[in-house]
Amino acid sequence: MSRLLIEGGRTLRGEVKVQGSKNSALPILAASILSKGENVFYNCPLLSDIDTSVKILRYLGAKVNRHGHTLTVDAFDLSRDDIPADMMRQMRSSIIFAGALLGSKGKARLTFPGGCEIGPRPIDLHLSSLRRMGALIKERHGQLIFEAPKGLKGAEIALSFPSVGATENIMIAASRAKGTTVITNAAREPEVIDLADYLNKCGACVYGAGDGTVVIDGKESLSATAHSIMADRIVAATLMSAAAITGSEIVLESVVKSHLDAIIPCFKQAGCEFEFSGSKMKISAPEKVRSLGLLRTSPFPGFPTDAQAPLMAVASVADGITVFSENIFENRYKHVGEFIRLGADIKVEGKVAVVEGVKKLYSAPLCAKDLRGSAALVVAGLAAEGTTEIDTTEYLERGYEDLDVVLKNLGASVSKI
Ligand code: EPZ
Repeated sequence: MSRLLIEGGRTLRGEVKVQGSKNSALPILAASILSKGENVFYNCPLLSDIDTSVKILRYLGAKVNRHGHTLTVDAFDLSRDDIPADMMRQMRSSIIFAGALLGSKGKARLTFPGGCEIGPRPIDLHLSSLRRMGALIKERHGQLIFEAPKGLKGAEIALSFPSVGATENIMIAASRAKGTTVITNAAREPEVIDLADYLNKCGACVYGAGDGTVVIDGKESLSATAHSIMADRIVAATLMSAAAITGSEIVLESVVKSHLDAIIPCFKQAGCEFEFSGSKMKISAPEKVRSLGLLRTSPFPGFPTDAQAPLMAVASVADGITVFSENIFENRYKHVGEFIRLGADIKVEGKVAVVEGVKKLYSAPLCAKDLRGSAALVVAGLAAEGTTEIDTTEYLERGYEDLDVVLKNLGASVSKI
């Protein structure tokens, strides 16, 4: 198990390419089992969650090869339709294989998924949607058995909440269903659009991804394709936070500005300035940031829950009070206790966190508790006086590719031991 040591107080400078998106790559890898031939995925990040997906694909009988950031998947005619509990437990998005296996084999045997402990994470919307498409689902002793002996059929599905995973699961399943599926109140996240782009390149007919209503005309067969995974907007937000908390100027490459439209104004409010040129974005932070105002997490195009923790690190040393309202997950303030160890002044009441910026943070041994919280501890450590030690990099490695190296290349003092 690795730990991180961060010596705070260094200014960052330089350019960094934002890695490919984990949350885009995971559903796309699952969807790859729908198509015949060899898929080629470029810009696929090197992360433990991606390794778990690869393990699942290989277990199912797919041929998967990796050359750096390029992954090839030939997954037609799989030999299995079950995923062992230990693989399901490693990440929540393993539930996306339900739609993919139903679409490709007409059946799936899974268990309830695991993932970061950020609150109750039910899968009722996934199950009810697949049922509407004709899947018979039995839940027994933690096992989930899905069957659609005559194949899935198109359906009208109105989601009670625009769940990202449920929208993706339905889109994947519907691409090989008989007839047309219409999802209303669908998630509008950029990762949903990336999945639709991939499916359409395979010959699927997915319309309206990114709008509230997605229409999918099912196809009997799909063909493998080449696809480049979009840049990770949450990693971009994390690096922006690193620049803001250290009063630095850095350039991020491979940025899609529209993906960051709800995040950039928070940094502007804090006094940061931006310059854009093609897919490059320069962020210049003042020596001391101002309050970030009021940040309410909500589904896209709102402020993303995944960026809440890194921006809270910035707020902890800002001049003034920043208020966060976390509306997506119930238990997403686990980093707060660790920030307080560094000297932050934060009060949490239910889903609201009030952060009164302090003059300085002071290093302390910290305990990583989930993915985005871990990234936020790294950001806070960059500003803390002394050497901050983070007990494990296990969570970080689920979503950030070599964050220690990326920050070191920008001039930070971060070492993995
Ligand atoms: C995706 O999770 C992301 N994961 C999460 O990223 C992200 O935080 C989340 O979307 C919100 O943007 C992946 O894409 C792999 P949801 P997902 O279904 O699909 C409730 C990260 O750090 N809900 O939109 O699981 C749910 O409990 C991660 O990278 C139900 O009630 O999110 C939550 O409160 C963590 N029933 C809310 O909806 C359901 O059937 C949003 O969940 C499904 C969801």
